[in-house]
Amino acid sequence: MCGIVGYIGKQSAAPIILEGLRRLEYRGYDSAGMSVLNGHGLEVRKKKGKIEEGLGKLLKTNLLLGQVGVGHTRWATHGEPSDENSHPHFDHSGKISVVHNGVVENYDRLKDRHLKAGHTFQSSTDTEVLAHLIGEHYERIKRCETEQATQNGDGLHPLTKAVTEALREVIGTYGIAVICADYPEVIVGARRGSPLIVGIGDGEHFLASDATAIALHTRQVIYLNDYDVVTLRADRFAVTSLGSDIARVQISQLEFSPEQAEKGEFEHFMLKEIFEQPRTVANAMRGRIDLEEGTAKFGGLNMSVAELRAIDQIVITACGTSWHAALVGEYLFEELAHIPVEVEYASEFRYRNAPIEKNTLVLAITQSGETADTLASLRETKRRGHKVLAICNVVGSTIAREADGGIYLHAGPEIGVASTKAFTSQVTVLSLLALFMGRIRMLSLHRGEKILKALQAVPDQMERMLEQNGEIRRIAQRFASVRNFFFLGRQYNFPVALEGALKLKEISYIHAEGYPAAEMKHGPIALIDDQTPSVVIIPSDAMYEKTLSNLEVVRARKGPVIAIATEGNEALAKQVDEIIYLPQTLEAVFPLLAVVPLQLLAYHVAVARGCDVDKPRNLAKSVTVE
Ligand code: G6P
Repeated sequence: MCGIVGYIGKQSAAPIILEGLRRLEYRGYDSAGMSVLNGHGLEVRKKKGKIEEGLGKLLKTNLLLGQVGVGHTRWATHGEPSDENSHPHFDHSGKISVVHNGVVENYDRLKDRHLKAGHTFQSSTDTEVLAHLIGEHYERIKRCETEQATQNGDGLHPLTKAVTEALREVIGTYGIAVICADYPEVIVGARRGSPLIVGIGDGEHFLASDATAIALHTRQVIYLNDYDVVTLRADRFAVTSLGSDIARVQISQLEFSPEQAEKGEFEHFMLKEIFEQPRTVANAMRGRIDLEEGTAKFGGLNMSVAELRAIDQIVITACGTSWHAALVGEYLFEELAHIPVEVEYASEFRYRNAPIEKNTLVLAITQSGETADTLASLRETKRRGHKVLAICNVVGSTIAREADGGIYLHAGPEIGVASTKAFTSQVTVLSLLALFMGRIRMLSLHRGEKILKALQAVPDQMERMLEQNGEIRRIAQRFASVRNFFFLGRQYNFPVALEGALKLKEISYIHAEGYPAAEMKHGPIALIDDQTPSVVIIPSDAMYEKTLSNLEVVRARKGPVIAIATEGNEALAKQVDEIIYLPQTLEAVFPLLAVVPLQLLAYHVAVARGCDVDKPRNLAKSVTVE
């Protein structure tokens, strides 16, 4: 999704903004631009395409000098990707420059008003309409000032006042950064629904939609709240609120180091993050295991044991890969704690009139903590008076702050658009939470200990799994040119099949479907032929024989099979085209291991097809629009 970087201070703004935008590339974008204020007013450069070939190149030949500026990476919502539609956009006078994340829903009506007033537009974006709206308020405020020959009675900077009044007319979501040629000493930022962070430096300030953009420069940040408006100067800042008289301002320390957001020795972030999993899974468990009591412990649930024991139902709301983790959670809570679970797509749940019983716990699962639909579900649930706990990776994100309590993944920044380590950390945390919920109910100490021991073994087992990287690359190359793929699994491994299919389609653009292995025969089997491989997750567990017969049905139609099986099952190797072995573990823990070869398979297929693994087409890392 779109990214914002702003700078005000003593250094040259353009290189800092450009570097920040590069660090936001992972979020997904189709064009980039920036405007900088200098002694001659506002100067802008913007270009469709990747930063390297577009904006970066342009800036080499057309330098931008100045110590105040705002930059943007755009992911098209209104209007196709083009130079004209790239941000920044300007108001009618050309004095005010705006970058914007989010969607102005009433832009049509506002645009009509401006067209009637004689304004012309250079782009088909909602953001340009917002720039004109800010400009309109700004001109009125300036006129009043001149007529009354007074400063604003409320002490607000004229640009801040114009932004504030304009935003009162906006329906929709925004994270914005605004500069004005009349005031080279300020940047105004504001948010509603799209994240915006202030970075505090020494005689300089930063504005960013994502901390990775500014982590190189400062560790001190303020996560703005919805309706906050910030006025940044080089040496100070002020936060006001559109919604109330007082804005809450809390300075936080960034949790991760800038190096954690580097690729290091790996060719892609995705590969680095796949290989990080032994460590990130261990981090998700650190300090949360109570072996003696055979249970888990958490610091931030903000609910008493009595309250948690009274829970009759759990509803989990999430999107994408997090939704797949939620499905694994469904099996875990039902098996370990005997609690009925509903897993909901956040985008559906937020608009449904789903009856939620009184003693229902709602879990929101999200890597970024900013996904618009998940956030809206959380707000809707809270409005109805239910508690919401978040399972989230990004510390200080909107969902983490708005939830009643929660559990952080501590997986470090996930940069690859295709989520990998977040999934295994989410499943690890869900396993611990389900175990805890089981232990305050009916789960025996013995079973609790067994699950903990199996979980503790996972990091080492994953290391061993990763040693098969070369072999998985070979398999991937063998099947890299097919057009369709199936992923099949039963019970705990059904969500893993869905996740394997999602990974492959996200980054290799091969059509892939995940199915419960037995459901295959009710339709999808019609698609099986000798050019359509199926990845069958078939551990040596209670479902082994049943999954085997599903596998045979595929083989009987000449469908190639790649089996993900348990070590020691030598017999299966003769019945399939390829086999990848996983270490022995409990059924409930198998998804944590089984997903790793599927991530590697998707990765190597995408590389073999020459795809841009970390920046797949059309996708965004964090989806902050509906
Ligand atoms: C986007 C990403 C996915 C991610 C989903 C949910 O679609 O590309 O990788 O799973 O959003 O994101 P969240 O941050 O809420 O987990």
